[in-house]
Amino acid sequence: MKYQQEISRRRTFAIISHPDAGKTTLTEKFLLFGGAIQVAGAVKSNKIKKAATSDFMEIERQRGISVATSVMSFEYQNTLVNLLDTPGHKDFAEDTFRTLTAVDSVILVVDSVNGVEEQTRRLMQVCSMRKTSVIVFINKMDRDGKNRFDLLEEIEKELSISLHPMTWPINQGKEFKGVYDLHNRSLRLFTANTKATDEDTISISDLNDGQLDDKVGKKDADLLREDVELIDGVYGELDVASYLSGDVAPVFFGSAINNFGVKEMLDTFIRIAPVPRDRETNLRKVGVGEDKFSGFIFKIHANLDPKHRDRIAFLRVCSGKFERNKYFHHVRLDKDVRFSNPYTFLAREKSVVDDAYPGDVVGLFDTGNFKIGDTLTEGEEFFFTGIPTFSPEIFKEVINKDPMKTKQLEKGLLQLTDEGVAQLFTQFGGNKKIIGCVGELQFEVIQYRLLHEYGASVQFNSLPFYKATWITSNDPQKLEDFTRFKQANIAEDKDKQLVYLAQSEWFLNTERNNNPEIEFHFTSEVNK
Ligand code: G4P
Repeated sequence: MKYQQEISRRRTFAIISHPDAGKTTLTEKFLLFGGAIQVAGAVKSNKIKKAATSDFMEIERQRGISVATSVMSFEYQNTLVNLLDTPGHKDFAEDTFRTLTAVDSVILVVDSVNGVEEQTRRLMQVCSMRKTSVIVFINKMDRDGKNRFDLLEEIEKELSISLHPMTWPINQGKEFKGVYDLHNRSLRLFTANTKATDEDTISISDLNDGQLDDKVGKKDADLLREDVELIDGVYGELDVASYLSGDVAPVFFGSAINNFGVKEMLDTFIRIAPVPRDRETNLRKVGVGEDKFSGFIFKIHANLDPKHRDRIAFLRVCSGKFERNKYFHHVRLDKDVRFSNPYTFLAREKSVVDDAYPGDVVGLFDTGNFKIGDTLTEGEEFFFTGIPTFSPEIFKEVINKDPMKTKQLEKGLLQLTDEGVAQLFTQFGGNKKIIGCVGELQFEVIQYRLLHEYGASVQFNSLPFYKATWITSNDPQKLEDFTRFKQANIAEDKDKQLVYLAQSEWFLNTERNNNPEIEFHFTSEVNK
């Protein structure tokens, strides 16, 4: 197949949601349609049940399992779909944020009962920063949820995105009767717990058709007529360009567990979702169709089996062709590397691949050469940009309990933070090491792994900070003065960028007001 065709038949995306909204269930239905699994229930949820939250080893075990589901590739209607998995647990939100840098679009699942939830908000912030194309799936329509119009309004307002309904629900909860496809002008009747087939679809181009009353009853038929008139008047046809630019999100209603409303969405997704795109680097924009290979590492997974210390680095191919055993240039280390056993994940089988194209994700065995954001090329010296680091929310000082193991501790801290498990800061003008994480669980993971993998024993002392903000200024003198006056709150990240650690929002706002020449950033770029 021609190189251009290989690119244009790929769709690389992630399903995101607040835990419990139905991401795993929807993933499973997609895999069923793609023939990647044969029976329902084959995808194990990688979310961590509430009861297990104190058991971090259980979480790491689950993270281990999730390596296998990190990328799920399948073919559907001649399209190669790469579905990138994201951890459900909020303590691993950073992993999810970084995965979003490797996809071209997302499907956001919203629970019709709970509406927009905390995790949804945060994930969508990252999507809007990156102008990612979004499709929304409003799930659990078989339950008594919020009013459909209220829900759309809530999503639009809370997530600052314009919505465009593609299907429209007829009632909800026990009375849920199906959806009307606004694009194809057809009615799909709800059938619980069965695989919906084409026979359930009735073409109703004119809503005054008496068939509608026969199928859903006069009351619901009338309500649908009113709703559709209103929607048609407001929305019209979907403008695909606005979807591609991340300004408008098409919306589907359904019930993932009943496999209802899923196929309509998948078919539309295949039709409109973006193909792999050009990407920015610190030097120039790299065209997806360029001959020469380039790609970047967006996720690193440690192998928890002590017999196999290696890690798996996940590479997103951005241009050219990735080939097994060919030498590529590791830009940060300025050395040439090759991979004899790279693998991909077609039909959920991990298999060694000979080549991969833009949009594909390749798993590379790594013995410590990679960190998040590393770029591989065929010789050119650029870094892919737009890979953000977010402010942690919990900060602790690292106390070395065994001075004989200082070297091991330093190595361990560097490697674990390269994996993106946590962020490492060093007190400005001092030696104090500070670890910043999104969730408490990571501290347990770090403590355990430092001891078992590096022989270093540590303890953590909580620090009273709530956010790390990267500070910059056009006036070097002002920055130097601020750093000196506020030394107790200043640290450096691993790339020696200055960070102000704020005790509270009040302190941060005060410093902002008092120092207008200093800029405080909540995110930093991995590659500048
Ligand atoms: P997540 O990955 O986003 O965390 O959610 P997941 O798919 O695991 O779904 C969360 C719960 O919601 C599951 O129930 C799942 O069965 C249920 N669910 C998913 N889609 C629908 C739907 O369309 N309607 C209804 N009523 N429920 C739905 P659970 O009891 O937590 O887990 P399980 O025991 O069923 O696995």
